Amino acid sequence: MSLLIVGGTGTLGRQIVLQALTKGYQVRCLVRNLRKAAFLKEWGAELVYGDLTSPETIPPCLRGITAVVDASTSRPGDLSTIKQVDWDGKLALIEACQTANVQRFIFCSALNLEQFSNIPLMEMKQGIEIKLKESKIPYTIFRLSGFYQGLIEQYAIPILENLPIWITNENTSVSYMDTQDIAKFCLRSLQLPKTENKTFFLGGPKGWLSSEIIKLCEQLAGQSAQVKRIPISLLKLSSNFLGFFEWGQNISDRLAFVEILNVENNFSNSTFDLYKTFKIDPGDIMQLDDYFLEYFIRLLKRLRDINFEDVQKQKNLVI
Ligand SMILES: NC(=O)c1ccc[n+]([C@@H]2O[C@H](COP(=O)([O-])OP(=O)(O)OC[C@H]3O[C@@H](n4cnc5c(N)ncnc54)[C@H](OP(=O)(O)O)[C@@H]3O)[C@@H](O)[C@H]2O)c1
Repeated sequence: MSLLIVGGTGTLGRQIVLQALTKGYQVRCLVRNLRKAAFLKEWGAELVYGDLTSPETIPPCLRGITAVVDASTSRPGDLSTIKQVDWDGKLALIEACQTANVQRFIFCSALNLEQFSNIPLMEMKQGIEIKLKESKIPYTIFRLSGFYQGLIEQYAIPILENLPIWITNENTSVSYMDTQDIAKFCLRSLQLPKTENKTFFLGGPKGWLSSEIIKLCEQLAGQSAQVKRIPISLLKLSSNFLGFFEWGQNISDRLAFVEILNVENNFSNSTFDLYKTFKIDPGDIMQLDDYFLEYFIRLLKRLRDINFEDVQKQKNLVI
């Protein structure tokens, strides 16, 4: 099976590329910056230039492709708007897939879409889900929770750098998940016909409160966190305020995304069935505490290496 991965340079996309290559798939990546994506080529993927905001670049990327995994989304710092990528770009991608007779389309969506359809990105994701279903391309939609990877920037780094951690004052627990595990589900769905034309709500094995994540990071870092609470109403206000300005649209949507993922989801009943459907052993799923432990061990080793190199340099200077 030949795969086209859109968003292969992203946090989730790169894990999908890596695992697909390990599993022996022929992997092509639609990328808009060949230099930035060079690491994917080193891993063994074929790179093809494509940009979702330039629809004419999409069809050539689909030649000979059986299945498409779409893990792309607009980047916060980009000049292109969310609408150009997450709506117009995705419509063009679906249309091109239909013409190219693609046999499966995996779409990475987000949880809690219905509650937040007032937020443009969520409205677009919901709309794309509908268009995909109407397209008659066999699809699998994953509605995803927050990623462990995002928590490093949100919690671990501020603690290590003595910077404040901003959290909302709502006590909701979120079932974050490691992108390596999400990638497993995406790729497994390609081998399971019963996951065709279905939508799955994918969350991690345990719900985490912000306070629990902070405590975990404090223990691992051996440092206390400076916690600043921001009321969810203020977050809503700032996202509405920024949304008035074109330049603020991306920022406001990102802020809104934090809020969306902070809605409690109880996966406990459905998770077991999900793992059974995908034939994935729950014991193989990365737990958040193990993920953070690995991160801190790697980081502390790196810091020790840097210290060692500095001491060696000082010694050489003295000699
Ligand atoms: N992060 C989360 O916590 C979370 C939670 C729920 C759902 N999701 C969804 O999961 C998916 C993956 O998220 P992520 O955090 O891994 O995304 P990400 O790290 O922000 O990566 C976005 C990817 O999309 C690509 N892209 C952006 N604009 C493009 C364009 N015009 N043409 C082609 N490619 C373009 C980027 O390429 P460049 O490298 O060239 O910029 C990058 O590869 C997204 O659909 C996201 O909405 C994410």
